[in-house]
Amino acid sequence: MIQNKLLVISKLLLYTLLLKFPQRVAVINKSLMCILFMKHYFQKHLVLFFLIQSSMFLAPFSKLRATPTSSQNEIRHLEKLVGAIREKDYELLHHLLKEGSITKQTLQKLSEAAAEQQWLKVLKAIEATTTFLNSKESNAQRIQFGLKRSDFLRIALFVEMDLTKHTHKGEKFLEKSATGLPCALEYDSKTKRVFIILDGYKNIYVGQGSNKIVTKAIFYKREGSEIIARAVQTKSRENEIRITTDLIDAPGIFHILACTNFKKGNDTYRVIYSKLYTSGTLHSVFHRNPKFTLLEKAKIALDILQGLEQLHKRKITHRDVAPRNCFVSMQVDERGIRTIKAVIADLGRSDYIWGPINKAKKVQGHTTYNPPEAIFRNKIHKEEYLQTDIFAAGCIFYQLLHETLASWQKKEYFYGHHSRNFQYLTYVAHLNKKNRWRKAELQKKKASRKISETEAFEYLILKMVDPDPTKRGKAGNLREEMQHVCSRIEERFKQKS
Ligand SMILES: Nc1ncnc2c1ncn2[C@@H]1O[C@H](COP(=O)(O)OP(=O)(O)O)[C@@H](O)[C@H]1O
Ligand SMILES: [Mg+2]
Repeated sequence: MIQNKLLVISKLLLYTLLLKFPQRVAVINKSLMCILFMKHYFQKHLVLFFLIQSSMFLAPFSKLRATPTSSQNEIRHLEKLVGAIREKDYELLHHLLKEGSITKQTLQKLSEAAAEQQWLKVLKAIEATTTFLNSKESNAQRIQFGLKRSDFLRIALFVEMDLTKHTHKGEKFLEKSATGLPCALEYDSKTKRVFIILDGYKNIYVGQGSNKIVTKAIFYKREGSEIIARAVQTKSRENEIRITTDLIDAPGIFHILACTNFKKGNDTYRVIYSKLYTSGTLHSVFHRNPKFTLLEKAKIALDILQGLEQLHKRKITHRDVAPRNCFVSMQVDERGIRTIKAVIADLGRSDYIWGPINKAKKVQGHTTYNPPEAIFRNKIHKEEYLQTDIFAAGCIFYQLLHETLASWQKKEYFYGHHSRNFQYLTYVAHLNKKNRWRKAELQKKKASRKISETEAFEYLILKMVDPDPTKRGKAGNLREEMQHVCSRIEERFKQKS
């Protein structure tokens, strides 16, 4: 009888423990099983049974006290962190952050402690971390990289407290070994911008072309750090950096944040930091078959012409106008309305037309975007390069409007076995056969103002791919014409709705 009562009491005690310490469920369950098992064998030895039961009951309890739970650990860690802030012990703060992880709530408490102590630099670092974590997109990317919250805070603390000590000495590229941080940092003295390099983290690959390897990086900003693209040249091309720097903030050109260089051993690496175009290149967008509306197509063409205009205004020829070198950003707002922006990027083959131009290279980097005159690459001069950019853009617009490659985009005109003259004439004949008649027809319609918006777009494209470079038009005029096409489409939409 007594034995049974003791059993019930023990069980009740263990259940109470279970309620109080749910995280210790495994230990408590094991104890319960043991009690039931022992009841069977020790029925006759009441005292022994009672002793064993008591020790079974105490064992898990002492275990609970000996190993603190994770939440207890977190509380202790937080207390230590707050203590370090109250003591204004920067070294200890860094050390503690290296040791343990933090939550958003921890950040709140740390922020309160830093505010109490009026430790402004630490407060700024916490603020920078909080805004970064509060951005849904940035935080999702952070998780994908495997970058811990505490690591970001450590970096932020370093930027706010320690960075100037290094930059005053002229140090711009700060290796992990120099800072003790989990990432290398790069500082651009011209723009005073700080970039967090994510080498060694997961999911950072963006793309690769013939001259650059592109990965994700973080542009550190107190008001909200951004995930950006970091392109490192594989072969040193100073011209690209010079032209890219010239085009910072030019509309229609990819958004450039900084151009830097750093030394590793005997080599100098040149780097371009730019906005990350999350929809990728126009080439990858075409592959996804996005079904653009006519207005979207016209606006993409307008953006690209705007970029070309900016280049040509500065007497720069791009020399690699192709879908792979146009970046796209697509955003859908809460009403489901899609906004698309396209930009011209990759100035790796660009040249000032007044300077020396390497004639050994193809006129346009992507063979099938070269016009017929590019077959005689030695004979192309200055302004004529600009007209080859226009032709290449015309080929992109053809694919954009008709959702298929133009039939004249063939490598054989450039790599065939016939004489160059023959190849040139065949290419021109192909273009004429395909486009001449249609262009004349559309020209008539245009003159009599009976041309639809789609036809006006088509006419513009046929003009841009004319075999005669002088008939292709200039980027500025074409941009105006394209603007007109866009306005007409928008006007029609307004009338409809
Ligand atoms: N800012 C960016 N946003 C999105 N993707 C990019 C960005 N920069 C480069 N890429 C990707 O990396 C590839 C290579 O970059 P690019 O500038 O064209 O270098 P390359 O000179 O080697 O051709 C691009 O085709 C594109 O896929
Ligand atoms: Mg490229």
